[in-house]
Amino acid sequence: MQYTNDAIPEHVRTLGHEDPELLAIGMQGAVFRLSDHRVAKVWFHSPRTELERLQTLYAGLRLPFHTPEILEIHEGSRWLVTIEAELPGRPLHEVAPAFDTPTWPAARDCVIDVLAELATVQASPALFAMTVLDETEPFRRAEQSWTDALSGLLARRVATYGDQLDQVVDKFETKFDCLQQLLRQIEPENGHRLVHGDVTAGNILVDEQLRPVSVLDFGLLSMAGDPAFDGASAAALYALWSPDTRSIEADFDAALAARLGYSTDELLVYRAVHALLIGNAHDADPFGRDSGVPLTANLLNDRRYVALLT
Ligand SMILES: Nc1ncnc2c1ncn2[C@@H]1O[C@H](COP(=O)(O)OP(=O)(O)OP(=O)(O)O)[C@@H](O)[C@H]1O
Ligand SMILES: [Mg+2]
Repeated sequence: MQYTNDAIPEHVRTLGHEDPELLAIGMQGAVFRLSDHRVAKVWFHSPRTELERLQTLYAGLRLPFHTPEILEIHEGSRWLVTIEAELPGRPLHEVAPAFDTPTWPAARDCVIDVLAELATVQASPALFAMTVLDETEPFRRAEQSWTDALSGLLARRVATYGDQLDQVVDKFETKFDCLQQLLRQIEPENGHRLVHGDVTAGNILVDEQLRPVSVLDFGLLSMAGDPAFDGASAAALYALWSPDTRSIEADFDAALAARLGYSTDELLVYRAVHALLIGNAHDADPFGRDSGVPLTANLLNDRRYVALLT
């Protein structure tokens, strides 16, 4: 797999930044530290309208940790580039204790602290204006229910790659029908809150005590909706590629029930939905990195989800 590409830093240099230092290459872009407490993010896929919506969303966020501020949007020859303020903290995944070590709960609780704060934020008009994944229309109309909007998105995603899923997920059609029914039965207590949609250990920056100081990378699946969806997906995303991922999810679910009162069954439903939403989300990756379809299949073939979806 090829992760580096000289054209990307060169692209940043053409904007007048002499010595960009590569911080990370993620699925959506490459991030460089610049000289003046700023970073440049090169966006691989996003059109300008999407970045402008994100800029407006960020400008209106009020949270007890730092969130990104998009200072400038540049149209380069190949990719769009945003100039953003550099946020404090280190990515949680770089410093978190491993699962099943005595100090692991501090890492999990850091994520839950973030989820608890996000869950208190009422959805703004800027959040309702957000599009998700590669879609071009806003995810949810003002008068539409959360579950209706989510169910519609799920159906559109599965329409794009259901044939691939059918080959690797046992009884895929039955499971999908069952999931749609279960989703439509959910009546969330709070269906109009801020859902970040991609709460990963790379999107939380922490201090020495593992407290969250910055939360970044909104936009991929940021929606007005039920915060329990963020809890469900964060548990799956924490260690998506790890063989321990199902155990980590179960550990999160117990903590999410205890601390935030989320229903374990609803978390499973939301997590199955999330797995289907992101299963092919990165298939247009310019570096040709692995597809998420096998991960989605692993989840849907796991005994807890088989029991849920029959
Ligand atoms: N404003 C910022 N200040 C400091 N570090 C940043 C900033 N933006 C991004 N980073 C660093 O770059 C990393 C990747 O950024 P980001 O999550 O925005 O990119 P991405 O392409 O969406 O990544 P991924 O697909 O892995 O989530 C972050 O984990 C963080 O370490
Ligand atoms: Mg990220």
